[in-house]
Amino acid sequence: MPGGKRIKIIIDGREVETEAGTLLIKAAEDAGIYIPRFCYHEGLRPDGNCRMCLVEIEGLRKPVPSCMTPVKEGMIVRTNTPALQEHRKKVLEFILTSHPMDCPICDQAGECVLQDYYFDYDLEDRRYLEDRERKPKRVYWGKNLIYDAERCILCRRCVRFLDNVTGTRELGVFERGIHSYIGLFDGKKIENDYSGNLVDICPVGAITDLDFRFKMRVWFLDRTPSICPFCARGCNIEIHTNTDRLRNRFSSQRVFRIKPRKNQDVNGWWICDEGRYSYKFIDEGRILHPMSNGRKITWEAAGKKLREIIGNEIRVYLSAWMSNEELIYWKRLADLLQWKVSLVKRPDGDEDKLLRVKDKNPNTTGAKILGIKEERGNEEVSVVFHFPEFAPEQRIKIGIFTNEFPDMEGWELILPAAVFAEKEGHWTNFQGKIQKFQKALEPLGEAMDEGRIGEFFAGAFGIELPWDRQEMEREFLKEYKKWSGS
Ligand code: SF4
Ligand code: SF4
Ligand code: FES
Repeated sequence: MPGGKRIKIIIDGREVETEAGTLLIKAAEDAGIYIPRFCYHEGLRPDGNCRMCLVEIEGLRKPVPSCMTPVKEGMIVRTNTPALQEHRKKVLEFILTSHPMDCPICDQAGECVLQDYYFDYDLEDRRYLEDRERKPKRVYWGKNLIYDAERCILCRRCVRFLDNVTGTRELGVFERGIHSYIGLFDGKKIENDYSGNLVDICPVGAITDLDFRFKMRVWFLDRTPSICPFCARGCNIEIHTNTDRLRNRFSSQRVFRIKPRKNQDVNGWWICDEGRYSYKFIDEGRILHPMSNGRKITWEAAGKKLREIIGNEIRVYLSAWMSNEELIYWKRLADLLQWKVSLVKRPDGDEDKLLRVKDKNPNTTGAKILGIKEERGNEEVSVVFHFPEFAPEQRIKIGIFTNEFPDMEGWELILPAAVFAEKEGHWTNFQGKIQKFQKALEPLGEAMDEGRIGEFFAGAFGIELPWDRQEMEREFLKEYKKWSGS
């Protein structure tokens, strides 16, 4: 375990300062020196089983695994000598005696370390003339996971994840030597809430994701940093998209997968399955145009409808899915129009000790900072964001929504809102951390972000309040400082 004391070591001739007790592989990586690895993963207990990460340490007769060796003051380490390169080549040759050469049809191709290391260290033709060992293929492990034992290099990352991270222990190593494979314990399936992380940590294509399998080559995906909206933790994610009609045979599907982005202070290396697999609403069932009583109308007609409500008592129900910037903008607009302001949000759900928190909204804290409370009113007109189910049964209901829902005919006016992946902004998570989400896609149809919809409202009511996201970001930060006392 790192002990807090700073020490100095030499790696490949460079002086590196690190914490005493840090594993050598990590100390090198932090200093920008990458040591190849299969079984080591920063988020898992080290296992030292693949021997790919061996390094030379001055004074020791044999190379040692850098993933099992803590640094010591004055250590002199070499990570890439000709002898180590030769050693890595042999490790690869050994793995490839039983690994199928099916990269062209493997989902992992393009992000597979075995493929990468083969090009870095091996590049030799096969010398092993025996038949490959045949093992189970296409084994259903539960939820979205498919296992291919022939591709498995037995690094045991998956076993350790289920032992040490979720504690659910569904997998073990069965049989011995060349016959070894990873299998489910009797009567078990992998049904835990973090199962998708197994696909990410498997260094090869042995665990594939039914939700993504054979849908898109990874090198055709664009990757945008974002934040998961499905609970108040705000796990850091990447949204993987493809909008290129030539490559994308699912032309209406733009988002192909969600992956975790490491953030030690928020989610570590992981995300939960709800955050990973709940992206379909981005492309499916969207509201694409302004609508009145279930019929499509123009924006001009929508402006006219808005002017008809002037003079009524109005309450606007802002949502805990709106960004900090959108919330502060709408609060100002409501104050200028003398509307009452409330908050609506998804009801609380399950939580656990790993990541998931009870609050299933990304920005309850942002609303709290601005003093927006969950109150219900009885005004003549309600303007409701995102959650139609919270609209009081008033005479006039106006909604700003992203997705279709039953009973849209009962709404005087519905305006199409962009989803989080179609705009940029910030949310404040339950720890009080402000985190940025970026735009991965253009809004579908005529959808607009809630700031621009606010500007449309302001225009319809004859108010000068331009939507300037960056200005609103600065204004929110002032409120945040008051709230946090910083
Ligand atoms: S399935 Fe993947 S993670 Fe698990 S042991 Fe095999 S190669 Fe490693
Ligand atoms: S824990 Fe919460 S924020 Fe993280 S991925 Fe799951 S739902 Fe999203
Ligand atoms: S990464 Fe060190 S032995 Fe596998």
